[in-house]
Amino acid sequence: MRRKLITGNWKMNGRSASLEQIDALRQVDAAACDVVICPPFLLIEAASRLAGGTSLAIGAQDCHHRVSGAHTGCLSADMLSEAGARYVIVGHSERRTDQHETDALIAGKAEAAYAAGLVAIVCVGETQAQRDAGVTLDVVKEQLLLSLPDGATAANTAVAYEPVWAIGTGKVPSEAQIAEVHGAMRAVLVDRFAGEGQGMRLLYGGSVNATNADSIFAVADVDGALVGGASLKAADFGAIIASLNAAQGQS
Ligand code: PGA
Repeated sequence: MRRKLITGNWKMNGRSASLEQIDALRQVDAAACDVVICPPFLLIEAASRLAGGTSLAIGAQDCHHRVSGAHTGCLSADMLSEAGARYVIVGHSERRTDQHETDALIAGKAEAAYAAGLVAIVCVGETQAQRDAGVTLDVVKEQLLLSLPDGATAANTAVAYEPVWAIGTGKVPSEAQIAEVHGAMRAVLVDRFAGEGQGMRLLYGGSVNATNADSIFAVADVDGALVGGASLKAADFGAIIASLNAAQGQS
């Protein structure tokens, strides 16, 4: 059985005072799932120290695809690992859009993550226009195939399906729509990676909150969530973790 994974992505939110939220999450019951918070880079080291000795893990929101060199303003996966990160999100749609990241670059970032011993959380998802045009599955399958390197395994990779139109909008796909995409992703992963593809965790992301988490976690092939806004407060995020623990208990 795949162990559930819930990841909070703080994006460009959080100052040192926000470490209080990490402190509060130290108490969280993560017995039945892996829990990760990805704060801004500058907080990774302090957050990792706070989370030390607990089941809470700290991750980063991006990494460079090279180990070192003349890349002003960038951070390597090795640096993030040294700061205490154990996970890294790559290919988030905000970076695909704002930083023009391509699938090939994202695959390179995932490889850099593996080399540094980090788990890569690789994001894919269609825009509203693509959904309206009826090409969601084609878009997601292509992103998935091109953004995952050959070295992806169940242990070093999780995939997050995040419809761009659902991120930060309060709009969530129907359970049937999530099931359709997750089922298609699972088939692609099993076809390419066999047992490793069967074991990879598939997260849903996009406007997940304490109210809708239960129904999302009940969908087949949803192995957890990537949560933005609702991960900023430990109380909100804790409620989503509780839903996941409950779903895990029932499965
Ligand atoms: P949201 O963000 O939960 O605020 O919609 C999700 C994400 O972008 O990972």
